[in-house]
Amino acid sequence: MKTIAVLNAKGGCGKTTLSTHLAVALSRSGVATTLADLDRQKSALRWHALRPEGAFPVKAVDWTQNIGGGLKKSARVVLDCPAALRGARLEDIVATAEAVVVPVLPSVFDEMATARFLGRLARIKSLRKGRKGLHVIANRVRAGSRAMARLTEFAENRDLIFTAILSERALYGDLATRGLTLFDLNTKAAAALIEEWMPLLTALED
Ligand SMILES: Nc1ncnc2c1ncn2[C@@H]1O[C@H](COP(=O)(O)OP(=O)(O)OP(=O)(O)O)[C@@H](O)[C@H]1O
Ligand SMILES: [Mg+2]
Repeated sequence: MKTIAVLNAKGGCGKTTLSTHLAVALSRSGVATTLADLDRQKSALRWHALRPEGAFPVKAVDWTQNIGGGLKKSARVVLDCPAALRGARLEDIVATAEAVVVPVLPSVFDEMATARFLGRLARIKSLRKGRKGLHVIANRVRAGSRAMARLTEFAENRDLIFTAILSERALYGDLATRGLTLFDLNTKAAAALIEEWMPLLTALED
């Protein structure tokens, strides 16, 4: 079983959006996947409860109290982690994960918080050992904006390459309130946005 942890100490950067999208994308591709909610806000579980009948089935478990419970046969587990994760709890989660996905928004405060968080991750032994994939994702990006130019500079200054760059689109919010993701849609608009996810999905295949 491969565990993918979606993490950032910063709130509101897109952890739940990424987790739900990855859970649907992987499930649809035929990989038995479970979405595990570690956040007491239970946004991923709420999203899951909103999923309409007839939507592609996705398994979800409540790991807000006990990590590891209720897991049926799964090849992948996607962890939707809470913000402000640090210390031993962060280390434990990273230790169990084969891949760590860190969304970051083009905002100066998010960049500063993410820089600190990446520093913290870099000091975690199990991640330092290599082999584990660390994927930083630029989220809610407006192409050509000053904020994006600054985020690009932020990445360059740290020798960081974004695994994927996801556009800012109201559609993400609309889908979340309906228990859906882009991967549930068959529209041209969704297909164009899904393209942006491909580098991350490919990287997670390894
Ligand atoms: N690419 C995007 N374009 C537009 N809106 C987005 C995008 N990604 C996320 N959002 C919106 O931003 C808000 C925060 O996203 P999300 O809940 O995924 O963040 P989070 O990191 O899980 O937050 P928290 O720290 O509270 O758990 C949500 O309303 C979501 O719909
Ligand atoms: Mg969340």
